[in-house]
Amino acid sequence: MSPFLLTRTLPVDATDAALRADVLEGLTRQPKTLPPKWFYDAHGSDLFEEITRLDAYYPTRAEREILIARAGEIAAASGARTLIELGSGSSEKTRHLLDALPALHTYVPVDVSESALTAAAGALLAERPGLSVHALIADFTRPLELPDSPGPRLVAFLGGTLGNLLPHERADFLRSVRAGLAPGDGLLLGTDLVKDEATLVAAYDDPAGVTAAFNRNVLTVVDRELGADFQLGDFEHVAVWDPDNEWIEMRLRARRALSVKIRELDLVVSFEEGEELRTEISAKFREEGVRDELAAAGLRLERWWTDTRGRFALSLATAG
Ligand code: AVJ
Repeated sequence: MSPFLLTRTLPVDATDAALRADVLEGLTRQPKTLPPKWFYDAHGSDLFEEITRLDAYYPTRAEREILIARAGEIAAASGARTLIELGSGSSEKTRHLLDALPALHTYVPVDVSESALTAAAGALLAERPGLSVHALIADFTRPLELPDSPGPRLVAFLGGTLGNLLPHERADFLRSVRAGLAPGDGLLLGTDLVKDEATLVAAYDDPAGVTAAFNRNVLTVVDRELGADFQLGDFEHVAVWDPDNEWIEMRLRARRALSVKIRELDLVVSFEEGEELRTEISAKFREEGVRDELAAAGLRLERWWTDTRGRFALSLATAG
């Protein structure tokens, strides 16, 4: 088998069609919403990388701490010969896991970004020439067609991205992951944890305004891809903690009454002064909640690890 394979399961125009559908649906409903996946064009991905280095944004460092401390345990508990990483991005954190899995046969990074996949695979193959890398250009919220590689398989979904999904979407997602697992396979899940409001809000509203720029970047994406005329200066970045749902909401608040033309959709969207567009939820979890959501999808929580300050958790679940 060739050491590097790249499979595109997303048609090249699928992104475009999905963006149109999401913008049409999200901006013509009340309250207005846009899904967070559209933050991540090249500039948005750079801004997110910058966020991960901010003092206030603790999840990336907390998760890395757990991965470094527990890579050996995770590797031993999973015995993985195939590692599938959903939303792999730069594969930077996964390196710790890969290093702990010397018997790993195949690494399957899954991402919508072809450039991220080829860059990550290139760096990886330089270090692990024997490893077979089968990158998938795919939307991980859709059921995946996985390569035929040896088990046990470990599916890793890191970073806390599960929290970007609404509860019913999380249930669908976990069930679809479960459907792809055989006995002995596992899921390694990263989840940010409920903590005091000040820490949470600060992580999503940094003083340097990087998160604000990341949030507004979704408007740049819609301007460029769909010929809209959003003016970034018309929108204020808002991050609020919703204590009932236990999630952070990021919103863009119109500073004045305005309307936006979206040429490619033949649509005009009006905002009242102060009207808010929801761009992201980032749910925070508790151990019992994770256990219950996994169980509802037919997965059993086997191991639960947190960083020393109890801010973030990695869980290992098996089909059971
Ligand atoms: C990459 C989805 C985990 O929700 O914390 C960072 C994205 N949004 N700052 C998160 C994000 C605002 C991040 N995830």
